[in-house]
Amino acid sequence: MGDVVGDEMGAEILGLNLRNTLDDTAIAKIEDTLYRYAVIVIRDQSLDTGQLAAFGQRFGPLQPSGRRKVQNKDADNRVQPDTPNVNFISNIKKNGKNMGSSDAGIYWHSDLCYEEIPSKATLLHALEVPEKNGIVYGATQFTNTAAAYEALSDEMKTRLEKLMALNSFRYMWNKKAHEFGRRPALNPAELDQLTPDVTHPIVRTHPHTNRKCLYVCEGYTSRIEGLPEAESEALLNELFAHVIKPEFRYQHEWRVGDLLMWDNCTVQHKATFDYEPPLRRLMQRCTVQGSKPF
Ligand code: SIN
Repeated sequence: MGDVVGDEMGAEILGLNLRNTLDDTAIAKIEDTLYRYAVIVIRDQSLDTGQLAAFGQRFGPLQPSGRRKVQNKDADNRVQPDTPNVNFISNIKKNGKNMGSSDAGIYWHSDLCYEEIPSKATLLHALEVPEKNGIVYGATQFTNTAAAYEALSDEMKTRLEKLMALNSFRYMWNKKAHEFGRRPALNPAELDQLTPDVTHPIVRTHPHTNRKCLYVCEGYTSRIEGLPEAESEALLNELFAHVIKPEFRYQHEWRVGDLLMWDNCTVQHKATFDYEPPLRRLMQRCTVQGSKPF
């Protein structure tokens, strides 16, 4: 593997071409670097969906995400390999239809936290980045949930110790539909077709670093089990505000060709919607299955 240049959170890995097949030692080093820095970038890549999937699955099985049929053509109508576990995130429309998810990442969240087995890692590859007059838009923001947990008072840590929270894809769906109108609101029968809600510990232990991480997010966490509704809402709002404090944050400013990977236990993320057409943003994404939170 190439050199690593890193900070407390966020590192750049130099000297890799991901079109080449890396050996197992290099993959293990990348994964260790991911756990050490939580967000890593490998610059200057040019991967199609098949190549992204091939690299992603070196870290574990890929998960279907987005609950949306993946289109297998890119923005220039070039046919892409059939890779159901890679999806596009984009504001580009083709024939009046969104090319990919246009509202992904609008709330702070951890990927697939609404599944029994959430993602350990996400890979996001920048194909087009919005830019005007030398200013780049559409950054992705990250917050460190382990640092946020460690900064809680002892009293709060004790209070959270045994609490479980509901994470809900259905809750997110209609919240986004009502607040942003980029997707249709669903009726109860339609919501029933989506992934059922799951409960996870509010404080989870990272399976590799052993650090405790705050595992509630504004995007998907709808309720704390066993607490009256008002108390659940007040505590969740307090935790949502705490976890995104500026001192826990890193912001990734994209360059075309970046392949970003993040650790979904140690960070939450959020996209920045500070650009409009004709500026275009096109990302290719896949997620790697993790393990049951404990
Ligand atoms: C996501 O939430 O997975 C997408 C983030 C982004 O597009 O910046």
